[in-house]
Amino acid sequence: MKHVSALDQRRKSYKPKLPPALAKGIRKVKVKSGKATAPVKDKDAIRSAFPGTYGMPLLSFHAGTKAQTNSAPLRVGVILSGGQAPGGHNVIAGIFDAIRALNKKSVLYGFSGGPGGLEKGQYEIISTNKMDEYRNSGGFDIIGSGRTKLETPEQFDRCIGVIQKLNLDAIVIIGGDDSNTNAAILAEYLLGKGLKTCVVGVPKTIDGDLKNPLIPTSFGFDTAVKTYSELIGNIARDARSARKYWHFIKLMGRSASHITLEAALQTRPNSALISEEIEEKKSTLDEVVEQIAGSVKGRSVAGKNYGVVLVPEGLVEFIPAIKTLIAEVNHLLAEKEEAFGKLSSVGEKIQTVQSWLESGSAAVFRSLPSSIQAQLLLDRDPHGNVQVSLIETEKLLSEMVGRKLKSDAEYKGKFSVQHHFFGYEGRAAAPSNFDADYCYSLGCAAAILVREGKTGYMASIRNLSKGSAKWEAGGVPITMLFNMESRHGKLKPVIQKALVELNGPAFKEFARHRDVWAVEDAYLYPGPIQYFGPSEICDAITKTLALERG
Ligand code: FBP
Repeated sequence: MKHVSALDQRRKSYKPKLPPALAKGIRKVKVKSGKATAPVKDKDAIRSAFPGTYGMPLLSFHAGTKAQTNSAPLRVGVILSGGQAPGGHNVIAGIFDAIRALNKKSVLYGFSGGPGGLEKGQYEIISTNKMDEYRNSGGFDIIGSGRTKLETPEQFDRCIGVIQKLNLDAIVIIGGDDSNTNAAILAEYLLGKGLKTCVVGVPKTIDGDLKNPLIPTSFGFDTAVKTYSELIGNIARDARSARKYWHFIKLMGRSASHITLEAALQTRPNSALISEEIEEKKSTLDEVVEQIAGSVKGRSVAGKNYGVVLVPEGLVEFIPAIKTLIAEVNHLLAEKEEAFGKLSSVGEKIQTVQSWLESGSAAVFRSLPSSIQAQLLLDRDPHGNVQVSLIETEKLLSEMVGRKLKSDAEYKGKFSVQHHFFGYEGRAAAPSNFDADYCYSLGCAAAILVREGKTGYMASIRNLSKGSAKWEAGGVPITMLFNMESRHGKLKPVIQKALVELNGPAFKEFARHRDVWAVEDAYLYPGPIQYFGPSEICDAITKTLALERG
C-alpha cells in the first residue's frame, strides 16, 4: 500500500509557475547589479560588523535570449531552520532542479534536523526519487528542521570542517529573521576566512514578520493563514448555528499579529486583538478584557450569546505590564538558573519566583491565574525567550471576561466558552498554489545566486500581488535589512522584525469595519484551500498582500 493520499499523488505532478525571468530556462537567466545598498538605520555599526558583505548591490534577474554553456557542477548544502512553513519542500525542489539544469552533475546535500546538521556533519545527498516524493507537499520532513542557533566562532569552525570535507560551493539557509541574521554572519565569517563557499538565505515563516519593501512576504504565511481561516469560518458557522458558545481562538505568530489580522480580514470575527495596537495604546490587561466584554454585552442585548474572538499568540508580550514581568522573569531564570533548577514542584517555583520579583511585577504575577503563572516559568527557547505558544492566553482572557461579566449586575446574558489554539494545524499543510509557486521560484532564485557566487544575499521574488506572469526575481543583500537591537543585554546586528503597521492598509481596513463585526454576524466562511479549479480561487493571494502591494 502506498503511503500517499490521492491529493498528494495528484499534487506531485503540479508544475509551479515561475516569474518570466526564470521561466525561459535557468541557463538563460542574466543578472544585473543595481546600486550599492545600505541599512535604513545604524549604518556605521553594521558596516563595521560586516566589512566584507556591507553595501553590496541589489540584484535583479532577467531572461536572456541565449542559454549559457554548461556551468561547472555545483555542490550545494541546504538547511531548513526553525518552525515548519508550507512550501519548504518546493524551495528545495527549486534549488535541486535549477542546479541540475545548470549542470546535471550538481549535487544537493540536505543537512538533517536544521542548522545543527551542518555543525555535526549530518547530511544526505538528495536523490531524484526522493525529491520527486516531496514536490508540492507540506512539512519539512524531507530533511527535518531545528532551532540550533549558529553564532559562535567555535560553531562556525565546526561548520567549516564539514564545508571543506564536502567542498561545498554554497549553503542555502531557509529560515526566519533569526536564521537569516545568522546566515549573514556565517557568510561574513566564511568570506573573512577566504573560503569560496557562499551563504544564501530564503525568507520563511508562517508568522509573516520577515518582510520589507524588497521581500513582500515570507513563504508559508499564505497557506497557514488560509488553513486557520477555514477553521475559524467553520467555527463561526457552528457558533451561529448552535448559538451557545463564545469561541476564544488563539492563533500562532510568535510576536507579530499578521496572522490574526489576516484571519480577521478573511473571516470577520466579533473581536480580534492586535498586539501592536495594544502596545501602542499601552493598554492594560483589564482594558483588553473590557474590550472583549463590551462585544459580549452588545451581542447579548441582541439575543446573541455566542461569538468568535481571535487572540494572537504573542499578545502577552505586548501588554506593557506583562512584557516587563516576562523580561524580569527571563532575566531571573537566566541569572538564578541553578537555584531555580533545584525547585521541584510547580507551586514552589511560583512562590520562589514571586519572592524574587520587583514589587510591580510581583503584583502583576500575583493577579494571574496559577495555570498562567506556571506557563510563564516553562523552559525558554534557544534565544532565552518565553515560548508563547505554551501560554494559554485564550483561557486567561475568557476567564477574566467571565469574571468581569459576573461582577456586572446589569449583565443578564449567558457566557459559555470553548477554547482553540490554531498553529501546528497550518504549519505543515500542503502548500497553496501561491506558496507552491513562490517557494519553487525562491529555490530557483537561490540557485542563480549560488551560480553567481553571491554570498550574504537573500533570494527575493517581488511584485507578488500581480500574478506570476509579472513576478520579478533577484537577490537582496541581507545586511541592508539589519538594524542594531539589544540581545542578552548587548547591542547586536539583526534583521528588523516586521510588526503590524497601524497606519498600514491592512490594519486600517480591519479598523474601519471591526465595530460592525463586533455586534453583527458578519462572518465570512472562506472554506478549504482549493488546488483544482478557477484561478481566481486557486491562485488567490492573502488580503494583506493585496492591500499592501495591490
Ligand atoms: P519560525 O519563526 O521559526 O518560522 O516559527 C514560528 C512559529 O511557528 C511561531 O508561530 C510559534 O511561536 C513557534 O514557531 C512555535 O515553535 P515550536 O515549533 O518550537 O513549538
